[in-house]
Amino acid sequence: MKKLFYINILLFLILTFVFISCKDTITGDQIDNVVIPSSNVSYQKYIQPIFNVKCINCHGNGAVDGGVNLTTWANTTADPSVVFPGNPDNSTLVWCVQGRAGVSAMPPLDSPYKPFTANQVNGLITWIKEGAKNN
Ligand code: HEC
Repeated sequence: MKKLFYINILLFLILTFVFISCKDTITGDQIDNVVIPSSNVSYQKYIQPIFNVKCINCHGNGAVDGGVNLTTWANTTADPSVVFPGNPDNSTLVWCVQGRAGVSAMPPLDSPYKPFTANQVNGLITWIKEGAKNN
């Protein structure tokens, strides 16, 4: 009987843990606490994880809105008008996350996803400036 009690407690703790970690993945709150350095920005470490939280549900995971797929480095850099290596000013992806006039703000303002933080915008710009490498 006592054994069952402990198994129940353990089960409860596991379920609580699973619930908490799922919640984090869905809201993606943690991503905005990651600080991107001002140089040597790694795509795999910093850029793709932001897309995974804020973009790919509309760009690659099921839907490919606007023909833009952001699921991998190869897909993200496939179209030079979206990401122009070395030239963030000519990359519409940058304009979208900055919410510039003439393009649609991304993520869309009426979507449940949070806009890029200033650090994330700068990180994206630096990554493109540094050649938009698969690093
Ligand atoms: C809720 C769905 C949704 C989310 C989330 C979303 N997008 Fe989009 N995106 C769209 C739609 C729809 C279009 C095509 C229509 C348009 O341009 O408004 C689009 C178009 C784009 C384009 C092409 C714009 C152009 O003018 O050529 C880019 C680049 C883009 N998205 C980047 C992103 C990035 C980066 C993120 C994450 C920060 C993101 N999107 C998140 C729905 C979404």
